[in-house]
Amino acid sequence: MFDPDCRRCPRLATFLDEVKTQYPAYHARPVPPFGDPSARLLVVGLAPGMHGANATGRPFTGDHAGILLYQTLHRHGFASRPESLAADDGLELIDCRITNAVKCLPPQNKPVGAEINACRDFLAVELDGLPEGAVVLALGSIAHKSVVAAFGLRQKDYVFAHGAEHALPGGRVLLDSYHCSRYNTQTRRLTETMFDAVFARARALLDG
Ligand code: URA
Repeated sequence: MFDPDCRRCPRLATFLDEVKTQYPAYHARPVPPFGDPSARLLVVGLAPGMHGANATGRPFTGDHAGILLYQTLHRHGFASRPESLAADDGLELIDCRITNAVKCLPPQNKPVGAEINACRDFLAVELDGLPEGAVVLALGSIAHKSVVAAFGLRQKDYVFAHGAEHALPGGRVLLDSYHCSRYNTQTRRLTETMFDAVFARARALLDG
């Protein structure tokens, strides 16, 4: 279960203490998953961004990465509105939940392997709760690898590629997308059209 007081990664816990001193109004704690607990779509991001989820306490909220994500979720009927502004803005996800592979803000946006591993228990609980036929949408290769590891599967049998689709135990499906980070969208490694196609596929799998 998500632990709002988790301090199991010393580097991250200390970093959050420092960030809280510098930005007292920020959430600066582990960021809980957001959305419908019985959702069939689970979107897995990397980790909270400093001035986004780490500030607001809701995944992908307050920074650039969330703009395209919530717009696209809304277009495919997974969000009540196209924008996520704050944890108390009333936005609702529909048959969708968003979480991160790492729940705490990492320095330089880069969690180390031990932190990704330490946080996997929380992700595993979220994955365990998914119904048959659910879709796990991994944003980026770190999220993808952590999902594969959480299921106890071998990485070499599940290679990350944008748009790739992998069968998971329990009739679930893992869909891969490049992460919707500012870097990826501004360099057009990930275009709106590419991202839209991934969500269209998730919708087709769920409705099929
Ligand atoms: N915000 C998040 O919550 N997760 C990401 O991966 C990026 C930004």
